[in-house]
Amino acid sequence: APTAEDIRAVVVPLTSLEGPLLPMLHAVQHAWGHVPQAAVAVLADVLNLTRAEVHGVISFYHDFREAPAGRHVLKICRAEACQSMGGEALAAAALDRLGIGWHDTTANGAVTVEPVYCLGMCACAPAAMLDDRVVARLDGARMGRLLDEAGA
Ligand code: FES
Repeated sequence: APTAEDIRAVVVPLTSLEGPLLPMLHAVQHAWGHVPQAAVAVLADVLNLTRAEVHGVISFYHDFREAPAGRHVLKICRAEACQSMGGEALAAAALDRLGIGWHDTTANGAVTVEPVYCLGMCACAPAAMLDDRVVARLDGARMGRLLDEAGA
């Protein structure tokens, strides 16, 4: 895990930006794949904010992970076209099988599930993306195979 000094080295150069908190959080997540707990104190100190304020921003923007992602990231589309083709039920069944909620990672560290809002595959809804691969016309069986493939 990065030390406070490691985190400082990444964020201090961004201090002169206007509205530096979001760029700093992105830089930390880029460096370590998530925003570690230690970063909250560093950012609060560097920006003269309370830890609660920093934490509030991290949890408001779902872009930021507070824990490392699993080995695979499954993004399930929750936008309108996919919803109208049963996307919500498909997502609910997948989360149920994995025993996790949105933004969570399976206990074995294999898969993190996140929502996404349109993958540009509306004509072949419902769609999802496993790592860099978009998969369309999903149904329960195909979703099951994706989860198997990801080692969930
Ligand atoms: Fe899901 Fe466009 S709404 S791909």
